[in-house]
Amino acid sequence: MKLLLLCSLLMIGALADDYVVNTRRFPKDFKFGTASAAYQIEGGWDADGKGENVWDTYTHLYPEKSNYQNGDVACDSYNKWQEDVDLLVGLGVNTYRFSIAWSRVLPTGFVNSSNPAGINYYKKLIAALKANNIEPLVTMYHWDLPTNLENLGGFINPEIQEWFVDYARFLFKTFGDDVKNWITFNEPKQACEFGYGAGVLAPYISSPGIKDYQCSHNLIIAHGKAYRMWEREFKEKQGGRVTMVIDSNWFGPASNSTEDIEAAERNMLFTYGWYGHPVNFGDYPEVMKERIAHRSALEGFNTSRLPSFTEEEKQIIKGTVDFMCVNIYTSSLVNAIPEPKIVPLSPTRDLDIGVNVFQPEDWEPTVTSWFKVVPWGARELIKWISNTYNHPEIVVTENGYHDNGTVIHDLETRGRYHKLYLSNMLDAIYEDGVNLTGYMAWALTDDFEWQYGYNIQLGLYQVNFTDPARPRVAKDSASYYRQVVTTRCLVD
Ligand code: NOJ
Repeated sequence: MKLLLLCSLLMIGALADDYVVNTRRFPKDFKFGTASAAYQIEGGWDADGKGENVWDTYTHLYPEKSNYQNGDVACDSYNKWQEDVDLLVGLGVNTYRFSIAWSRVLPTGFVNSSNPAGINYYKKLIAALKANNIEPLVTMYHWDLPTNLENLGGFINPEIQEWFVDYARFLFKTFGDDVKNWITFNEPKQACEFGYGAGVLAPYISSPGIKDYQCSHNLIIAHGKAYRMWEREFKEKQGGRVTMVIDSNWFGPASNSTEDIEAAERNMLFTYGWYGHPVNFGDYPEVMKERIAHRSALEGFNTSRLPSFTEEEKQIIKGTVDFMCVNIYTSSLVNAIPEPKIVPLSPTRDLDIGVNVFQPEDWEPTVTSWFKVVPWGARELIKWISNTYNHPEIVVTENGYHDNGTVIHDLETRGRYHKLYLSNMLDAIYEDGVNLTGYMAWALTDDFEWQYGYNIQLGLYQVNFTDPARPRVAKDSASYYRQVVTTRCLVD
């Protein structure tokens, strides 16, 4: 009662809003944090024995693919990590999600190449976080495959499964006494669909409807094998938990027609379910298997373009997430369309799904037009994950607002975005009974935003990328987030 009262008092003077903001408190042990990824912030691309990864190599080879910019220096967090920790302490968060650069600790990707300076970098970072009671939530792979492994076929070579298991073992051995929450892969859908399908993320391979499925297949088995290795070799000794981060829009039906409702669900299964089903139930969603097999046959392929798991692999991958994670940014609506036409031997994933996906014109835009602000969709997405996967614990591992990085007074844009999304998360917790236990704002600082370079930003802190000292400046959204974190209320 007292807690509710406190929240209501803090809400007095709240900004008038077109949304009704949930004024309840986040649970006491709720994990509030921010997130980042190695290539996007660290810089030090060739420092102290680090090996090259695909982002180093391919942004140098094809600068036009990322706005003629790259992560060679980025936020210079390789040198300024202590300042980043100070920012986290200032925000009052209890969790920091960051990733380890595979080629910084193992320059060739293989365990016989370990790099003491790289290991030391993460040791120092982890120790500083723990000294400040900030739990590390560590991503093993956030899209920066060692180039040496890409040259051997990368995620298309099934040997990646064993390379990744060896890397994961090395990480548990090296950091597992201090890190208790591990994410194997970040956003496999983006990494595979855009890295090996659409060709817009490194390694820029264009093979839609074929290599994106093969990449995902090897990645899912790699995840499962790493999880089983951890269970056998580390779980008892170290404790901790292991999971995978999956991203998705909320895809809602464009109308109440049965066809549109089915089409929207099909789209969810082709996105979140592409990974969520295998790691929970041991196989791809039936609708994916059926549609892709059917279309592959009509297109003239001998077998389905979607690889299948052996019985043994199904057992390996089933039940390999100790809690579920989701990266949420926006939503879309879905119409059913008549059976899409068959183009011999020229598949795409869009045609496999057989839907028309769109965002209505009148939804609030951000600077990237397809990242419209749709707070209610976040609640729907979390509810869908909860209902589809038997009410697991869920952590939102990314959520953030895109702009061009010039705005410091961003209370009405980024601040409001976080408030409205968080409000929907409170609804998910208190109205829908979802076991949502954490929220990581993307991102702590502005950073290198993949194909957009530095032109799109989501940070709570601005970084001046033209100043060699890379100074950080708090945006208004940082103070807002600090208030939320420290009161556990959606104050203004
Ligand atoms: C998801 C990715 O995980 C992250 O690296 C990226 O910066 C954000 N989306 C924002 O677009």
